[in-house]
Amino acid sequence: MRRKLVVGNWKMHGSHKGNAELLAGIVGARPFACDVAVCVPFPYLSETAVTLANTDLRWGAQDCSAHEQGAYTGEVSAGMLAEFGCRYAIVGHSERRAYHGESDQVVADKAKAALARGITPIVCVGETLAQRDAGETEAVVKRQLSAVIQKLAHCVGEMVVAYEPVWAIGTGRTATPEQAQAVHAVLRAQLKAATPRADTMVLLYGGSVKPDNAASLFAQADIDGGLIGGAALKAEDFVAICRAAG
Ligand code: G3P
Repeated sequence: MRRKLVVGNWKMHGSHKGNAELLAGIVGARPFACDVAVCVPFPYLSETAVTLANTDLRWGAQDCSAHEQGAYTGEVSAGMLAEFGCRYAIVGHSERRAYHGESDQVVADKAKAALARGITPIVCVGETLAQRDAGETEAVVKRQLSAVIQKLAHCVGEMVVAYEPVWAIGTGRTATPEQAQAVHAVLRAQLKAATPRADTMVLLYGGSVKPDNAASLFAQADIDGGLIGGAALKAEDFVAICRAAG
């Protein structure tokens, strides 16, 4: 039995005041029957670590460098994140792939760099609408995941995978539970061929998850929780989604 995980991806949102209110709302709603985490912008890692200390809530970053250290202006290494006690790093989000040109190989390198520092990478995969319409969904997600599987080798079982169809992100257009489950099953099968731990791995769905559609998505056999964008910015909505997970 896999324990469900709900992760809030705040993207580039937040302020000292707003974060404090949001986190207080989540902290105050405990306990949850699932694991809960927030992935916050880099400048807010420290205050989030302080606010969530002595709670069972987890926190993480939204990216990490593929490099250990050096002349990489603007980048943040997994080693730096680990110094804060960071638990997760999202890697390969479609916004990073689209706006920062991150290739499958770069995403794989980032996942490896995170794991090397004891941080669980949340590896995002997902197809665009054009790719779905062209019948390429399965090929695209398999290609994206394959690069990471090859790079992580015997550590494959330690990552979290998030299926986020690009056409469902921030659009209000959610994949149906059946559409999402179909892709999750493909990903689980691919992981099974790579690691004996595939059945215990957590596979998240992301893309317009809201309080009113979360339960039906999370009820699917291979959907183990969600990576939540817009609805993670309002404590009431995020808490409702966490409740739907267990
Ligand atoms: O990583 C979460 C994400 O991309 C989904 O965003 O706003 O559609 O829930 P949203």
